[in-house]
Amino acid sequence: MEMNGAGGEQAAYNRLTELKAFDESRAGVKGTVDAGIEKIPRMFIRPEDELTQDCVYTEHETSQLQTPVIDLKGLDQNDGREQVIEEIRLASGTWGFFQLVNHGIPVTVTNEMIEGVRRFHEQDVEIKKALHSRDRSNRVLFDTNFDLYVSKYANWRDSIRCNLLSPDPLNPQELPDTCRDVIVEYWEHIMKLVDTLSELLSEALGLKQDQLKNMNCTECLALTGHYYPACPEPELTLGASKHSDPCFFTVLLQDHIGGLQFLHQNRWFTVKPVSGAVMVNIGDLLQLISNDKFKSPEHRVLANRKPRISVACFLRGNFNDNKRVYGPIKEMLSEDNPPIYREITMKDFADYFIKKGLDGVPTLNHFKL
Ligand code: OGA
Ligand code: NI
Repeated sequence: MEMNGAGGEQAAYNRLTELKAFDESRAGVKGTVDAGIEKIPRMFIRPEDELTQDCVYTEHETSQLQTPVIDLKGLDQNDGREQVIEEIRLASGTWGFFQLVNHGIPVTVTNEMIEGVRRFHEQDVEIKKALHSRDRSNRVLFDTNFDLYVSKYANWRDSIRCNLLSPDPLNPQELPDTCRDVIVEYWEHIMKLVDTLSELLSEALGLKQDQLKNMNCTECLALTGHYYPACPEPELTLGASKHSDPCFFTVLLQDHIGGLQFLHQNRWFTVKPVSGAVMVNIGDLLQLISNDKFKSPEHRVLANRKPRISVACFLRGNFNDNKRVYGPIKEMLSEDNPPIYREITMKDFADYFIKKGLDGVPTLNHFKL
């Protein structure tokens, strides 16, 4: 069998050369696909030990456990709010994620948001190349594999990243015209939903309704439109490697293709796409400030023979902030519940995450006391 990927086992294979050629093409994974390939380039192939381990995992996939779905319709009804908060507390403390229905964003808008991201990624490659960058201080950029040079294998995914709020609201003129109007519309809806969620999550933690907002947990909204191109050998790579999200929480929209999986009790659970629903998952920073009361779940995305689109909105503080510190919330601690993590700034956290990449090791390990 041919040796694959990671360590450059064969002298004739120069991984760095392959990575550089890919990087310098600025055309992303879709550019590689459009060049016409039947086999995936070696830089994307997962190491043998990971592939073997995966077979063990997936045998368990058909479980009776149902992943949580929460209906926000209850918010308008008597006692409904308490019920919703209880469901959020339960889901966030066990699975670390839930699907939301009746969240107030019209299905026409969620569908058009997905189509907007499709238009961006499927347009003339030259326009994407002009936006290609690894500089996160750009408010709008096209990138692929931010951790290209540190990860063991590359992911089958391209992304457009838009920093919508920080330090001030983005001027819509900076958005690409293929998806400008729908991003502006989706943005308005998502802000309302984020306000609702930050209140519900605060209350579910037993805090005052406005606590997470007052801690600036939602001051930064990073809208990321992912495109997972059609893959000729999906079983050999991943759309996104196992990771947990570097934020307080994430609101995610996915199309009908599927492939998003969460690790729960050592098994991978696929989140079945529900038209119009959004996914919410807890991120590392909320796990940190809640001192593990809420779980930031590990998840990944499978590659697929058909293209798949998702839109992630990450809620976090400003990654350049090196002043404000975040640690386990004092009023949640007690003698029986001592702090698990040290106090950190957003900058400490971001610098570490970006340097580390999606290497499968939980980011929070690094910040344990
Ligand atoms: C992410 C992520 C999942 C998806 O962007 O962090 O996990 O379905 N995305 O695209
Ligand atoms: Ni994620």
